[in-house]
Amino acid sequence: MVPKRNGVQRPTALVTGGSGGIGLELAKVLARNGFDLVLVARNRDTLEAAAGQLEGKFDVRAHVFAADLRRPEAPESIFDFLQNENIPIEVLVNNAGFGLGGEFADTNLQRELEMIQVNIAALTHLTKLFLPPMIKRRSGRVLNVASTAAFQPGPLMAVYYATKAYVLSFSEALSEELRNSGVTVTALCPGPTHTDFADTAEMGRSRLFNTFGIADAADVAKYGYDAMMQGKRLAIPGIKNKILAQANRIAPRALSAKIARIAQETR
Ligand SMILES: NC(=O)c1ccc[n+]([C@@H]2O[C@H](COP(=O)([O-])OP(=O)(O)OC[C@H]3O[C@@H](n4cnc5c(N)ncnc54)[C@H](OP(=O)(O)O)[C@@H]3O)[C@@H](O)[C@H]2O)c1
Repeated sequence: MVPKRNGVQRPTALVTGGSGGIGLELAKVLARNGFDLVLVARNRDTLEAAAGQLEGKFDVRAHVFAADLRRPEAPESIFDFLQNENIPIEVLVNNAGFGLGGEFADTNLQRELEMIQVNIAALTHLTKLFLPPMIKRRSGRVLNVASTAAFQPGPLMAVYYATKAYVLSFSEALSEELRNSGVTVTALCPGPTHTDFADTAEMGRSRLFNTFGIADAADVAKYGYDAMMQGKRLAIPGIKNKILAQANRIAPRALSAKIARIAQETR
């Protein structure tokens, strides 16, 4: 059953990748604003530590569900668990994702196929499962974490950039389909942000993560939360990122790709 405190039933937000980085910061903002949480990630210990931190600091309940979104059956098992526990999801945050740097001819195919599964397929599958109950209730919000990588081709990180272009396009299309439905979809497009992302992607030495200002994950999360609650389609945190995204929308694609390559190269 959905827990109640003081007789008030709080809405619940599901956050994938909610145990660290931007996802944990989003979970904190949601908790601060009165949402119970369901945190999903692979490592149960980290998940439980995050849930304990949230429950200790905020008056909320934080459930954990350890799942590997590289596995195609994971979204269904998350959905079934929540159905069985009778926990309706008011906010779906598709945040889990990762990248991989290097020339495509040399990078590891298995990791790239897993990236497509996590960044694209799991996000799509979870949205497919959780959206219909929201539409039926005429209430709900989806926050999909894309990236400024969504706005141009990304040499030396080609698959990652392409996955984020999908997330942006998919989110903007859904947002239009759902106009006047009571349900909103927001694409959050952060630029480089302090998390484990760059190390996981083997991009910690790139110009992108060393030359330009790196955002704070808490600031990105707060910006994304506010945009989601306002029902905005697109949220690009930071003036520099906004300008670059707009410039990439009008620049020739070949030029955008060249500039992205320079940013991705090692200093
Ligand atoms: N940091 C940046 O510069 C940046 C910029 C733009 C966009 N983004 C996007 O922001 C999102 C969050 O990234 P982050 O920077 O916060 O990265 P992060 O610090 O590496 O956190 C990733 C989170 O996702 C979970 N996760 C990773 N693989 C998973 C899997 N297979 N199944 C389930 N959970 C998984 C991780 O927990 P476990 O390891 O325990 O599974 C962790 O909770 C991603 O979609 C990323 O593409 C990041």
